[in-house]
Amino acid sequence: MVSEVLVNVNDVEISFLRGKDLPIVYVHGSGCDAKLWSYQLKGVGGYAIDLPNHGQSYELEINSVDDYAYYVAEAVKKILDKAIFVGHSLGGAIVQKVYLNHKKIVKALILVGTGVRLRVLPTLLEELRNNPKKAVDTIVNMAFDRKVGEFEEIKEAFLENSKVLLRDLEICDKFDLLDDYKNGKIRIDMPTLIIVGNKDRLTPVKYSEFLNKQIEGSKLVVLDGGHMIMLEQPERLNEVINEFVENLI
Ligand code: COA
Repeated sequence: MVSEVLVNVNDVEISFLRGKDLPIVYVHGSGCDAKLWSYQLKGVGGYAIDLPNHGQSYELEINSVDDYAYYVAEAVKKILDKAIFVGHSLGGAIVQKVYLNHKKIVKALILVGTGVRLRVLPTLLEELRNNPKKAVDTIVNMAFDRKVGEFEEIKEAFLENSKVLLRDLEICDKFDLLDDYKNGKIRIDMPTLIIVGNKDRLTPVKYSEFLNKQIEGSKLVVLDGGHMIMLEQPERLNEVINEFVENLI
């Protein structure tokens, strides 16, 4: 059973979808919402957040990954003391910032199809500004390795929210911790699981390999699929997450 939980942060309503009551928080990527994690809520449990401006959460001005991380952290504090944060793509950038800026509430990290720097193809941003329909086709084609049921649904949602998608991708484009990881300024000292699809064209495997090299004791799992691995390989992803969280909660 999945239910909705609403919390209030600075008069801004933030919505979560909740599965079995476990201290796991899922953070979606650009232009998506909490529903992205439906299989994980049912097969693992925990809470999936709707970022501000997405799903059922309120609209407000967000200019950076740090802004998103602030609202995620403050919203999570209303429901949990500490959580395992699972972030996909932009969500993976956000959970890295939750760790860096709000470490007290983090128990472990699961980084799915993400990286320490998330530059976006300039032509993609340009197309999204000028011809959203064409841009959404391009993005969806790059995001999935194989057709799954949600393919068309995501396309429609991206098109309907193309301004939010553009804003998210502009925020991704500015996210860059590459040098901070390389020169040791960032050291993640927490159990970390890194998951990526071997055919991910938006956040290629090398981004996850870099994370795995930089984070001591981390584990990298490469699944067969593209960027939307939670939809393309829901059962396998659940198995991998369940195995990792088993000893932590
Ligand atoms: N982790 C580790 N290394 C990274 C990295 C990451 N997240 N992002 C970039 N790098 C490294 C590259 O490996 C490369 O290293 P090298 O010079 O040793 O080969 C260097 O940084 C420069 O990367 P490059 O990809 O050439 O340039 P860029 O980071 O400025 O990005 C793009 C240019 C946009 C063309 C490219 O990142 C890309 O194809 N992105 C995927 C498509 C996309 O739009 N994704 C959306 C993400 S949300």
